[in-house]
Amino acid sequence: MNKPKSLVTIFLVLAATTLFAQSKLSLHTDQAKTEISKDIYGHFAEHLGRCIYGGIYVGENSEISNTRGFRDDVISALKEMDIPVLRWPGGCFGDTYHWKDGIGPREERPSMVNIHWGGVTEDNSFGTHEFLDFCDLIKAEPYINLNVGSGTVQEASEWVEYVTSGNISPMTDLRKKNGRDEPWNVKFWGIGNENWGCGGNMTPEYYSDLYNRFSSYCGGAKYKIAGGPNVDDYNWMEVVMQKTMRHPHLVQGVSLHSYTFTTAWEDKGHATDFGEKEWISVLSNTLKMETLVKRHSTIMDKYDPAKRVGLIVDEWGNWFNVEEGTNPGFLYQQNTLRDALVAGINLNIFNNHADRVKMANIAQTVNVLQSIILTKEDEMVLTPTYYVFKMYSVHQNAKLIPSNLKTGTYELEGKKVPAVHVSASTKDNVVSVTLCNLNPNKSESIDIDITGEEFSSASGQIITSEKMNDFNDFGRKETVNLKSFDVAKPKDGKLTVELPSKSVVLVQLK
Ligand code: AHR
Repeated sequence: MNKPKSLVTIFLVLAATTLFAQSKLSLHTDQAKTEISKDIYGHFAEHLGRCIYGGIYVGENSEISNTRGFRDDVISALKEMDIPVLRWPGGCFGDTYHWKDGIGPREERPSMVNIHWGGVTEDNSFGTHEFLDFCDLIKAEPYINLNVGSGTVQEASEWVEYVTSGNISPMTDLRKKNGRDEPWNVKFWGIGNENWGCGGNMTPEYYSDLYNRFSSYCGGAKYKIAGGPNVDDYNWMEVVMQKTMRHPHLVQGVSLHSYTFTTAWEDKGHATDFGEKEWISVLSNTLKMETLVKRHSTIMDKYDPAKRVGLIVDEWGNWFNVEEGTNPGFLYQQNTLRDALVAGINLNIFNNHADRVKMANIAQTVNVLQSIILTKEDEMVLTPTYYVFKMYSVHQNAKLIPSNLKTGTYELEGKKVPAVHVSASTKDNVVSVTLCNLNPNKSESIDIDITGEEFSSASGQIITSEKMNDFNDFGRKETVNLKSFDVAKPKDGKLTVELPSKSVVLVQLK
């Protein structure tokens, strides 16, 4: 009697797992209105460790193949990935930086000590002209951060004039003397960085007053970004919005910084040597970005209901312990499949809040924190995070498709995260859906419903690997990269996709 019953049960369980998907996604293409700013796919390069020197700039006399001193391999990789915007020179370095030290003949530029990052000597060979030349080469928009912490209003306003003005003035004469006749078209300007911390340890009230003052004298800056909160400092956001919005023309964006650690700042964890406990912990921590974006947006809505002011998440990403044997002040870490999931989840969150999030800049481009590129002398490695940016570039300037996801959970030792994480967009009659399967042990079947649409073809790409801590390294074949992924053509606007465990997947429908 027992035997047939258990067979029935087995059959039902099998049928349930094979015939019925565990996750369901409805996409409302008819409601696709909000544009996903391409700048959500932005990057950040600070004078920190080997990001600028060695990573981007090696100098004209280097044996490494270069164009005017910039690494050719890095230029090609960034162009290939469609980098839209690059933030510079900091970070904490920005509020110690005096731009006039970085212009004119290189041999005459004074040097300084990089007090925040390893106490190394900065020779200022990479300055304003070099940064803007590099942005031209990689076809990215520049985003310059002004020095509020240790700088003056005059210094900031002269930098803006030097870069953007077409008038005759002492600053534009100086620029011409340094070989550049025409002004550059620099739209984005940050006014200070982390002024609650390394940028001067200010109160939000004091910083906001300073912001208004600096912003008043930087008229040539079209899009000015106030230094916003650290993670969940909602009071900082409240005060900055309230005080700066008294003069709405002075503020176009407010920044937010939030990094992901394995457990906390005190326990950053290892970049490659981790198990499932650390896998779920990192994913669960990174998902907190959703709450941050929502709650900061709610405060912004109070002062800016029309959503004119952008939330600029200009520092985000994984921050782990530095690789053994490297300078602790250089923040060099490897990058695994887990970083790919973190990138995919955060970019989905930013896409889904594209009505308020107008830019985001992962930290940092080369050799620092969650890098997309690592270099060692003349070698270059593209990290799993690089491939996520490449895959997700289809969302740049596309229209966000509102979605409704029903998914189960992946759980371990009291931690619980959604099994699947998603965003979707449409551009040039192509629907692109990016899906992350957070479970490292189990594939996840998902039913996608785009009723009302007819598609003649479907294609896919995938980033996954055998082990959750697989990474790409120097001198060996790439382990984690972008591969094509078979997707069945939708029938009557419906399709089912089987997402392999621990994967980031792109599904495109035409
Ligand atoms: O990205 C590294 C550092 O993190 C930046 O310099 C600073 O702004 C933040 O604390």
